[in-house]
Order: sequence, then C-alpha cells, then structure tokens
Amino acid sequence: MSPTIPDARTLATQILTQVIHHGHSLSDCLDTNSLPDPRDRALVQELCYGVLRWLPKLQALLQPLLKQPLKAKDGDIQVLLLIGLYQQLYLRIPPHAAIAATVNVTRAVQKNWATGLVNAVLRNFQRQRDTLLTRIETDRCAQFAHPAWILTQLQTDWPTQWEAIVHANNEHPPFTLRVNSRCVSRDEYLQQLQNAGLVATPTPYTDVGITLAQPVEVQRLPGFNQGWISVQDGAAQLATSLLDVPTDARVLDACAAPGGKTAHLLERYTIDKLVALDSRPTRVQKLKDTLRRLHLEENTAVFCADATQPETWWDGQPFDRILLDVPCSGSGVIRRHPDIKHLRQPNDLATMVAQQTRLLETLWPLLAIGGKLLYVTCSVFAQENFLQIQRFLTTHADAHEIPLTYPWGHALPSGRQILPGEDYFDGFYYACLFKTQS
Ligand SMILES: C[S@@+](CC[C@H](N)C(=O)[O-])C[C@H]1O[C@@H](n2cnc3c(N)ncnc32)[C@H](O)[C@@H]1O
Repeated sequence: MSPTIPDARTLATQILTQVIHHGHSLSDCLDTNSLPDPRDRALVQELCYGVLRWLPKLQALLQPLLKQPLKAKDGDIQVLLLIGLYQQLYLRIPPHAAIAATVNVTRAVQKNWATGLVNAVLRNFQRQRDTLLTRIETDRCAQFAHPAWILTQLQTDWPTQWEAIVHANNEHPPFTLRVNSRCVSRDEYLQQLQNAGLVATPTPYTDVGITLAQPVEVQRLPGFNQGWISVQDGAAQLATSLLDVPTDARVLDACAAPGGKTAHLLERYTIDKLVALDSRPTRVQKLKDTLRRLHLEENTAVFCADATQPETWWDGQPFDRILLDVPCSGSGVIRRHPDIKHLRQPNDLATMVAQQTRLLETLWPLLAIGGKLLYVTCSVFAQENFLQIQRFLTTHADAHEIPLTYPWGHALPSGRQILPGEDYFDGFYYACLFKTQS
C-alpha cells in the first residue's frame, strides 16, 4: 500500500467517520479521485452507501459484540467495525479476506492498539451471526433500517404504503440520465449507449430519460464532457413539462443548485430570461459548472442569494413562471442519499416546513398575474407537501391549484405524490399554482 494513496477500506472509513460522527453529508465527503483503480473507487462507494443504508441494523448487531462502548475519539474504529459487518452480511468477498483487509485499516489509521479488537469482533460475528440476527428480529429500527421517528412519520402519512416505502428506501436507486435534446435525441443516444456496450431503456413518462441497467462512471458515457447528457432521476425530469413555459417567458428558479432542473428548463424551452438562485456558495459553483458543461449560460443570471430577500437580487419585473424546488427533508430520496436517515433529526421537519412557508410567502408576490408557480419537494411527508399547499391556498385568494392528472403518482387533496420506487422514480411531490387578480 502506498503511503500517499489510501486503500479503499481506509478511505471509506475516513469518509464514513465524517458522516456518522461529524454530521457531514455523504455527497460533500465522497471523493474517490485519489484512487487510480476503478474497482477501488467502486468498493468505496459500495461500502459508504451500504453502511449508511443499513446503519441502524449494523449498529444493533455491533452493540452486543463490544464488551464496552468505544470512546468518542475512536469513532473511526466503530465505523471500521460497521464496515466489517457490512461486508460479511452484504458483499460476496470471502469473509477471511474481508476481515484481514479490514483489520489492516487499524494500522493505516494509526490505531494499532485496535488490531486485536477489530479482529476479535469480526471473527465473533462470523461465529455468532445467526444468533445475533435472530436477536434483532424484534427490533423495528434494525429490521427496517430506519430511525424510529421516520418510521412513525411514514406510518402516519402513508398507513397502507409505509412498508413498501421503507423497502424502496433500502434498495439501490436506478441510474437515470437526461438527454440534452439540444445536442442529441433520446433514440440516437440509446444507440450510442448500445454501441458502447451499455444496456439501457427509455424512462417511462419522460421524453428525454434513459435508465441504465447498471451505474457507470459518467466519464464512460459518450458525450458527457460535451454536454449531451446529465444524471437526473426520472421523477425530477417531470418538473419542466409541469411548469409549461411559454416562449420568451421570464422564469425564476428560486432554489436552483446544483442545477438539474435549471439546465433541463434551458434545454427544453426558449427562455427570455432565467434567474437562478441558491443561497449556498459551494452549490452555486456546482450550478455554474453544470450550465457551463451543458453550454447553457446564455440568458441565465445566476445569483448566490437568499430567495427570501428579493431586495438583494430582484429587478422588480414579475416572473411568468416560478420553479420552487424547496429545501426539504429528502424523505423521498433516501435510497439515493441514505445518510438522510442518520443526519436528519425529528426537529428538522418543523424547521423545514417553516422555511418552505417563508419561501412560498416571499416569492408569490413576484409572480405575474396569469403566471404559474410549481412547488416541488423530494419528500413524502404530508407537512412539507399537500398540507403546506392547502394552508397556502386557504390564505391566498389569488392562488388557485391547477389539477395534475397523470398516469404516474397519487392524487392528493392538493398536488400529486410519487412514492420512491414507483415507476423506478424517486419520491417527489408536485403542486402547480396559478395566479389571478385577487
Ligand atoms: C432541493 S435543492 C434544489 C435542487 C435543484 N433545483 C436541482 O434540481 O438541481 C434545494 C436548494 O435550495 C437551496 N436553498 C435553501 N434555502 C434557500 C434560500 N432561502 N434561498 C435560495 N436557495 C435556498 C439549497 O442550498 C439547495 O441547493
């Protein structure tokens, strides 16, 4: 092992320690560029996503194997043990090889003292596996691999579907692309993928979506650097057609980064002026990078700004269309971001709902009479979705709902909900509002 290049398990330990013990998001920490071998990069991804997906179960299995809890400063050793258990339960690596490689990480992270401990715990698990698995059968959080508050919320909001949602959340998400129709048609790109030996099918209910049978590194995709395609879930691709932008409209994308929907709007429509905002500087940079790669910077004004303070970015001209893809719990995209289960706390929900209300209240006056606002979340929680929109409709006489009647998703008292896994889609909520004279 080179001293400068960590091996896959060491890197996975470092990344997961940042997420599990320091509260960072996986997408902010998961950088495998230091690994030259694609198999190592794939293993880091598998370990990071897999451990976070099954974390409550792995933690329940680990607890009885430790004679005493590890000290706070040894969070990396706890993570390493979880990685060790994950490999034995979910990967087809021969256990002795997985254990030996995992034990070696103790030296790489300069905790030689833990070598014996990690070896003993993982070998004990190998011996007692069936007993331990039987013992956690009555532990709901372990069985469903979700924290209790999310299970309770899902049961309240989706009494007959909650179990299917939980199972979908624990699945691997499909790998879906959006074809840039300004560069290439979906049929042409499907042919390109076939020529490259990649199995792919059109994504239902979208005209530019393609779902691959297996995920691949984007650089292997034909035309990625030239801006022919982007990675985007099929449910997210529905937003642009729902917003239905007339030619030469003024459009606001109020919570735009990293720019998936902004770019899709610009690919699909001729837009006179699109204002794209996001309040987080690092994400605004990603939005700019997205637009540059896709050659979509023309007619787009990108601001790093708080949408709830229009005096800092708005020129006073009303918008014909507003896309409001609000910050939310992410409860519909847990299968894609399993760290949500660990990072989100029960109190976050009320904070999110208040933030969404503030965004709706502030941006509604910026919409022209006759204009449309599309409210979007990647959540399945009623408070962020139809309850939020119903409250808004009852307090704004100039706001009216445009019914969304489609073959996908579920009609709600207001708006439409896609549940995770349905039609291969992520969980999304859409509501479309129309403004009249009050
Ligand atoms: C669901 S994400 C947007 C995803 C994006 N529309 C896309 O399709 O790629 C929500 C975004 O809202 C941003 N955000 C949160 N509060 C905001 C505010 N007050 N003003 C502007 N952006 C905000 C977050 O930084 C985050 O990037």
